[in-house]
Amino acid sequence: MPQLEISDLITAVDPESGRRLPVRRAEAVELLRADGDLRAARLVAELPADRDGVLDPDAVDRLLIRVHTELQRLSEELRIGRRLVHLIGPLSTAIRATGHPGPFRLVDIGCGLGFLVRWLAATGALGPDVELVGVDLNAALVGEADRLARAERLDCRFVHGNAFALPEAATVYVSTGVLHHFPEPALAEFFRAQGESPAMAFCHYDIAATGLAPIGAWVFHRARMRHPVGRHDGVASARRAHGDESLLRAAAAAPGMRPLLYEPRRVANPFCTTLRPVLGVRPHLEAPLRQALGQASRRLLDAEQFARVAR
Ligand SMILES: C[S@@+](CC[C@H](N)C(=O)[O-])C[C@H]1O[C@@H](n2cnc3c(N)ncnc32)[C@H](O)[C@@H]1O
Repeated sequence: MPQLEISDLITAVDPESGRRLPVRRAEAVELLRADGDLRAARLVAELPADRDGVLDPDAVDRLLIRVHTELQRLSEELRIGRRLVHLIGPLSTAIRATGHPGPFRLVDIGCGLGFLVRWLAATGALGPDVELVGVDLNAALVGEADRLARAERLDCRFVHGNAFALPEAATVYVSTGVLHHFPEPALAEFFRAQGESPAMAFCHYDIAATGLAPIGAWVFHRARMRHPVGRHDGVASARRAHGDESLLRAAAAAPGMRPLLYEPRRVANPFCTTLRPVLGVRPHLEAPLRQALGQASRRLLDAEQFARVAR
């Protein structure tokens, strides 16, 4: 089953500097062909390139902004802001209760067009004293996020660059729809960087890897997305989503964090589960977090509890 996403192949960035790198159209086409995805290979072959076969960066930016604009419908439909607040609200109560000096800074890694950060800023759902920052390696997406936030006069910030190279430390790292972009070894690195930072916790939402996910993604992307690249990548993302076990294993690479899954397989109805988060919290925060979550804490499982229910 083809799993590569077109949007990952048509753009490349130096992760240290955030500098854009040239992408040869023929190389992207070849990777897609080798993945057995001739339709995606045709879509990329139609993109404009210069005389040396390097993809036109402006055309690629326009395409990515268009696809991500459509993708915001998914975030709205799945009420991603509310889902995050359901966990980050109690987590911020726990962090404050254990004497964190502040400021409380939430950093959205790979924020794209910044839907989540802009939603949090527009609703004030986490309270006025939470600093909201979106970071992305892609300059075009984060630039558009910044433009939209300014147009709406929102109290939040967008930064172009690597989320792990910010001058100010995050209190909590979050993300939506980012984890499946990393193969397993890189995923462990992603979590390790957060454990090694001064952050108190992370909470990353991604597609739940259920048997129904690729069909659900196909239906949704046919119904709500127009661009063939967005439709293609939506289904590819669902196919490559990490399973619960892989997420827990990778999150365990974060030093000094307790890896936890919220509403994993067997705890949630597979017909309703679309996105579910993996969390990591500093050990002293687990008890106050569970207390702040109340009844919902029964759906927050550590590796041992998960192994028992998944058996
Ligand atoms: C599919 S997009 C996610 C879009 C967005 N979260 C949403 O829900 O629409 C994944 C993004 O993660 C960004 N990314 C990956 N690693 C990153 C890092 N270490 N720092 C900042 N951005 C990163 C990529 O540039 C890419 O734009």
